[in-house]
Amino acid sequence: MNFSALLWRLGQLNQYWKCEFSEGWPAAEKEHLQAARIFSRHGSSIESVKEHLQILRSSSTSEIEIIDFGAVSGVAPQTGTSTGIHRKVDLNTMIATTASSEKWGRMLLRIAQLKSGKINLELGTNLGIGLRYLVTGSHFLNQWISIEGDPNTANLARNAFSDSQQVTLITGRFSDVLPQVLEDNHDFGLVFIDGHHDGIATQKYADAIFGNMTSGGWMVLDDIRWSLSMKHAWEQVKTRPWVERWVDLGKMGILVVK
Ligand SMILES: C[S@@+](CC[C@H](N)C(=O)[O-])C[C@H]1O[C@@H](n2cnc3c(N)ncnc32)[C@H](O)[C@@H]1O
Repeated sequence: MNFSALLWRLGQLNQYWKCEFSEGWPAAEKEHLQAARIFSRHGSSIESVKEHLQILRSSSTSEIEIIDFGAVSGVAPQTGTSTGIHRKVDLNTMIATTASSEKWGRMLLRIAQLKSGKINLELGTNLGIGLRYLVTGSHFLNQWISIEGDPNTANLARNAFSDSQQVTLITGRFSDVLPQVLEDNHDFGLVFIDGHHDGIATQKYADAIFGNMTSGGWMVLDDIRWSLSMKHAWEQVKTRPWVERWVDLGKMGILVVK
């Protein structure tokens, strides 16, 4: 990342307290989200996540070789069709830097409690940590499909979910596998877009997915202040005609589909 991009991101940190609602939110949902926002900072660790982390740590050598297809790779950032950048990453660094933190994980759990549907979708499984919070918050009969481009990272997540009947993990670049997922699955209740992190690409995924969601379904975009292009994407998608209402939670934004 270049210096001006880093400065820009640091300048956005004071926006992370945000909790700004568009018009039209039912009072109960608004209160629930506001409370979740406050209480996500507190509380003890969640047992299912602790176990997930233990499995990851026991099944992996500390250094993992990964292929990065996202904007971080700096290659074909808008289409995600590059062959990716190969890197070696330490597992603990990966947990600390790319996976959902405890605070935002708790927020995901509350969101899933409120809105997960019979079938739900995540783009960007990574180690499955955010997904573990989402599954923990979902009804035990609700299903999750999650897509991860890097095979080694996906295998670690797959191993940690080997006991779960609720999760289907798909390995592949979004540009390659998402069309088939959308052909085979409809009526997503909750969608979490947390991969690639290029603004143009993110808008493309949002526009491709909303038609496969239930009316009133929630699409969560993560890292809306990760870069100028992601911020622009958020500003653009929240005005789409298919969006009924939105909430800006600082780091992530939620769009409610008409
Ligand atoms: C920020 S991490 C996801 C974190 C995870 N959702 C969580 O909450 O713990 C983003 C993941 O998306 C994957 N990714 C990025 N661009 C991709 C692409 N174009 N196709 C498939 N996977 C991609 C990366 O390999 C990375 O593991």
